Amino acid sequence: MMVTLIRLFHFYRRPSKYVVASFLLIIAMVFVWRIRFIPSRKMAPTPPAPLLLDSHKYILSWENYYMITDYDDLQCPVNNCIFTHDKNLYNGDYSQFDAVLFYERSLTLPVEYLPINRTSSQLYVFATIESSYNYPACELYFDNFFNWTMTYRLNSDIGWPYFVVRNLTGHILAPSVNVKWPNHKDIPISPNVIEKLANKTRAAGWLVSHCRAESMRDEYLTRLQEHLYHFSLQIDVFGACSNIRCRYSSCEEMFTRDYYFYMAFENSFDEDYVTEKVLHGYDNYAVPIVYGGANYTRFLPPGSYINAREYHPYNLAYLIHQAIKHPSIYHEYFRWRHFYTIDAGPPGTHPLCKLCAALNTNTIGRKTYDKFRLWWNLPNGMKWCLSPSFWNEITLLHIDNKHIVNMY
Ligand SMILES: *[C@@H]1O[C@H](CO)[C@@H](O)[C@H](O)[C@H]1NC(C)=O
Ligand SMILES: *[C@@H]1O[C@H](CO)[C@@H](O)[C@H](O)[C@H]1NC(C)=O
Ligand SMILES: *[C@@H]1O[C@H](CO)[C@@H](O)[C@H](O)[C@H]1NC(C)=O
Ligand SMILES: *[C@@H]1O[C@H](CO)[C@@H](O)[C@H](O)[C@H]1NC(C)=O
Ligand SMILES: *[C@@H]1O[C@H](CO)[C@@H](O)[C@H](O)[C@H]1NC(C)=O
Repeated sequence: MMVTLIRLFHFYRRPSKYVVASFLLIIAMVFVWRIRFIPSRKMAPTPPAPLLLDSHKYILSWENYYMITDYDDLQCPVNNCIFTHDKNLYNGDYSQFDAVLFYERSLTLPVEYLPINRTSSQLYVFATIESSYNYPACELYFDNFFNWTMTYRLNSDIGWPYFVVRNLTGHILAPSVNVKWPNHKDIPISPNVIEKLANKTRAAGWLVSHCRAESMRDEYLTRLQEHLYHFSLQIDVFGACSNIRCRYSSCEEMFTRDYYFYMAFENSFDEDYVTEKVLHGYDNYAVPIVYGGANYTRFLPPGSYINAREYHPYNLAYLIHQAIKHPSIYHEYFRWRHFYTIDAGPPGTHPLCKLCAALNTNTIGRKTYDKFRLWWNLPNGMKWCLSPSFWNEITLLHIDNKHIVNMY
């Protein structure tokens, strides 16, 4: 740049004052441009107007939480919240924080490890994406403790879904209790999608890390596998519970290229508990076969998945066989791609962003979960608090999965 400018300067052997003036102008512009548009590492993007200290909201995370590494990465539109793990920020006076966040592990803490002093304006927020089966609230002191909830449960004050379904103008349709799936006119499935499905040869893949699952998924799968053998089909299991490795460069590539279906079985039956497992299917053009405690209508576009709980394993095996045999049946599972996107959600929509916004606008208002344990564990869930000697898989089976047992 400089060399060009000097050449230009030399071109006019006797530079007029206009040339000198434009030269200086160009240098000034370059200088300004550098300052404005080349951010240095030190000069992190600053908010438009400096926020006054007392306009910040201070939020203490009671435990270190592995899910959030850097709050700044969340790109929240309302960004005056300071999230911290530093319990000593106010010399150990926790009542100074605007809000205290308790993640699922707090539910395992004895009462003496919870804060003692709180003010009536301060908010205690329960936040988790783990199932209540794995982290039940057992102790009485959790009743009348939390003010707001931030979880995957659809009746939480702030929703923390694993994914969102949006229509093509970006409106979030699901998860929602009041979901309305529009009736779409028949539109042919896109040839681009059909092309992606063309080379599939294997029935169903499953990537699993929890080997001994709680929701009877293994038992169901064993039955399903038996019936699939009738049709010379099978479920291939990958991950920690299997010694088969994914082919190609990644498991994702393998599911996309080879598998018709993806087993999206949750590790526990719990209301509204639908995890990122379904995305492994959708992202890889493998139809998710779901199995869990949720009402899936509230989560996923109709016709885009199969709910195993609605089928006897034999009938599911037959359905899989039919879809593989008849491409026109199989292609139907991809019609949703004309109308929706399913993903973890755009930047700036993280639940912590919503929490920050809610602390500023007070849209949720004053409240307390006086029966928190009932809300979280649900009427049938207090038994998870009992020691394992009080119940076993058989009790579990009789209480929660009766309808499934009856199907066998
Ligand atoms: C709790 O409040 C009491 C009374 O205001 C005060 O003496 C005590 O130091 C506070 N404890 C903490 C840990 O802030
Ligand atoms: C998306 O949903 C919103 C709200 O229901 C609606 O107004 C909009 O027309 C929808 N967009 C499309 C492309 O269907
Ligand atoms: C599932 O959710 C949908 C949408 O909220 C609702 O219409 C339907 O009645 C629910 N089904 C059951 C079995 O609760
Ligand atoms: C399917 O196989 C053909 C022939 O090997 C190949 O050209 C094509 O790229 C493959 N399509 C996909 C989606 O993998
Ligand atoms: C939060 O819950 C506590 C305990 O029930 C209650 O005393 C307090 O008033 C609540 N605060 C807000 C802001 O709702």
